[in-house]
Amino acid sequence: VKIRLVLSGYSGKMGQEILALADKDKEVTATTAWSPRFQVKSTDVVVDFSSPAGFRKSLAFAVKTQRPFVSGTTGLSAKDFVSLKKAARKIPVLWASNMSLGIHLLLDLLPTFTRVKELFDFQIVEIHHRRKVDAPSGTAKTLQSQLVEAVDRTVSEPVSIRGGGVFGVHKVLALGEEEVLTIEHQALNRTVFARGALLAAKFCARRRKGLYSMSDVLRG
Ligand SMILES: NC(=O)c1ccc[n+]([C@@H]2O[C@H](COP(=O)([O-])OP(=O)(O)OC[C@H]3O[C@@H](n4cnc5c(N)ncnc54)[C@H](OP(=O)(O)O)[C@@H]3O)[C@@H](O)[C@H]2O)c1
Repeated sequence: VKIRLVLSGYSGKMGQEILALADKDKEVTATTAWSPRFQVKSTDVVVDFSSPAGFRKSLAFAVKTQRPFVSGTTGLSAKDFVSLKKAARKIPVLWASNMSLGIHLLLDLLPTFTRVKELFDFQIVEIHHRRKVDAPSGTAKTLQSQLVEAVDRTVSEPVSIRGGGVFGVHKVLALGEEEVLTIEHQALNRTVFARGALLAAKFCARRRKGLYSMSDVLRG
């Protein structure tokens, strides 16, 4: 039996990418239906890639209908993260600013900088297509908070560059007197995020209530 997804933000760039990928996937089926008349019975997981307003609407829908909630929407407020935590007491919840595998490996590398925190300055740089609404990117914010935790000192705010059709580039720079180390992740297409979103949806469909992360998905 296929896992039935309902997509919040289905007409958007990510929504269309997820629909296309779900179409080729034997385990899931995605519907674009998103209206008050929507049939609750035919949903297993709510997947949201929209806007903060769309996120709030779809999270409320998931809680009300007791369905797992997976979201990659960025630009959320502190209050939104509180809502996610509250929802996790009732349903499985997974939010990630970046659903790619590479970014999660990059996050795992950040604690390494603890060893050189006195010797290097640090800076995060992100590049995205000119149509991206929020800056810095949600991923840059996640990298920043984990970097600050690793080096235990203030780090200048991420530098955001907007232009062209860039799907997403994130760099962590460690700047020493005599050397510069750059760790860079490039998303080569949007499918990488959609693939992660489907993995997350399948993962949450099998889970009980709680707050999950992409690291949990990767661990399986
Ligand atoms: N976590 C990740 O891996 C990842 C990767 C890429 C993007 N993102 C994030 O995903 C989100 C969507 O990105 P995108 O590039 O797909 O954006 P997009 O092309 O602008 O699409 C946004 C979609 O959300 C819908 N939407 C907006 N406000 C809504 C509301 N109040 N209620 C219902 N639907 C609403 C839009 O519908 P209408 O056109 O009808 O308004 C549209 O379908 C952004 O926050 C982006 O940063 C995350």
